[in-house]
Amino acid sequence: MVVPALDTGATAGGLATFIDASPSPFHVCETVAGQLRAAGFTQLLETAEWPTGPGGFFVLRGGSIIAWRMGRGGAAPDGSGVAFRIVGGHTDSPNLRVKQHIDRTAAGLSTVALEPYGGAWLNSWLDRDLGLSGRVSVCDGERTVTRLVKIDEPVLRVPQLAIHLSEDRKGVSPDPQRHLDAIWSTDADAPGLHSWLADHLGVAAGDMLGWELMTHDVEPSRVVGVEQDLLSAPRLDNQATCYAGLQALLDAGNPEVPLPTTGMLALFDHEEVGSGSQRGAASDFLVSVCERIVLAAGGDRQDFLRAMAGSICVSGDMAHATHPNYADRHEPGHQIVLGGGPVLKVNQNLRYASDAPGAGVFAQACRAAGVPLQRYVHRADLPCGSTIGPITASRTGLVTVDVGAPQLAMHSARELMAVADVPMYSAALQAFYRA
Ligand code: CO
Repeated sequence: MVVPALDTGATAGGLATFIDASPSPFHVCETVAGQLRAAGFTQLLETAEWPTGPGGFFVLRGGSIIAWRMGRGGAAPDGSGVAFRIVGGHTDSPNLRVKQHIDRTAAGLSTVALEPYGGAWLNSWLDRDLGLSGRVSVCDGERTVTRLVKIDEPVLRVPQLAIHLSEDRKGVSPDPQRHLDAIWSTDADAPGLHSWLADHLGVAAGDMLGWELMTHDVEPSRVVGVEQDLLSAPRLDNQATCYAGLQALLDAGNPEVPLPTTGMLALFDHEEVGSGSQRGAASDFLVSVCERIVLAAGGDRQDFLRAMAGSICVSGDMAHATHPNYADRHEPGHQIVLGGGPVLKVNQNLRYASDAPGAGVFAQACRAAGVPLQRYVHRADLPCGSTIGPITASRTGLVTVDVGAPQLAMHSARELMAVADVPMYSAALQAFYRA
């Protein structure tokens, strides 16, 4: 497979490094923030006053992050200026998460109580060496502080049932309530995860007050295939978009050299469970950041509304490549090829937000980047997944187009995409920012 020579810093190796550093939405934000800071972006707090000048900025809200590079027009009160070109995505991926009463014993073993988050493909989580990540609120005197946790050691494992013990030898679909607890120790009296983690954090067990903890496959992402043309990795959905969008924003120019419009990257937590949270795509996060940018630059409410009316959002999420062993599960006239370039996703029932003007903008971006564009339509007789696209469109009124890069095994603990699609996807997003 020939990888076209593109003006982009995005590579499959770079994506692998990004993913392996980012087992939870909180770590995705930390990884993105680290790269933004290194590129000269300034972090702003929602509780503080925002600056008026040009440059690159970002705001964090838990597992969500919004970054932007001010455009040439700033937010001119004469209305000539600001418009946003937004690349949206999500930071969360389906996985197994830790319950509140964590520690149990069963069959003479210490176990840890887990449950699914989002549409995890449960079979794929069995027989994997699992680490632990997320964040914990700990008591710090009078205050509560939040600490990130990232344990890349294989401390947990959910074993399959032996084939001999299944009723039909065809395997079992795990029951999310009964079959997902992980083995912690062969010693039923061993200190449980709760106190072990408190030790790890250097706090008393009773001072761990709240947690959002999740498991991840500790096997590093890897380029595979005889031609080294495939990337085997967890969380491609949707960290491939987080990475491609970030790289596109960084590649689109120096923070001091304004883009024609304000280029923005908006990455949201909680897409896999419907986006309805304080920091999800259905929250006020995006609109409030856009309004504050306009107001901080001296514009008023009308300037903000005019800016939104002139803005556009590319909602990036992964797309289903045609599976060679299940080609009949795909719409026969819309076969998507791994390594075939970015994908426009269209759904008449608005599971995707794409309309003709949005499609036109993204097709132009692909043309400008010199990459092919594939067009996806789900089988009309199968329920279609969704993205932040329709939620963002209805929350903001922005023209929104749903796009992605092709992959296989979506929502598996281990997913697969083509090496060649990483730079093509990012180059198309970069062209979108530059237009
Ligand atoms: Co997704």
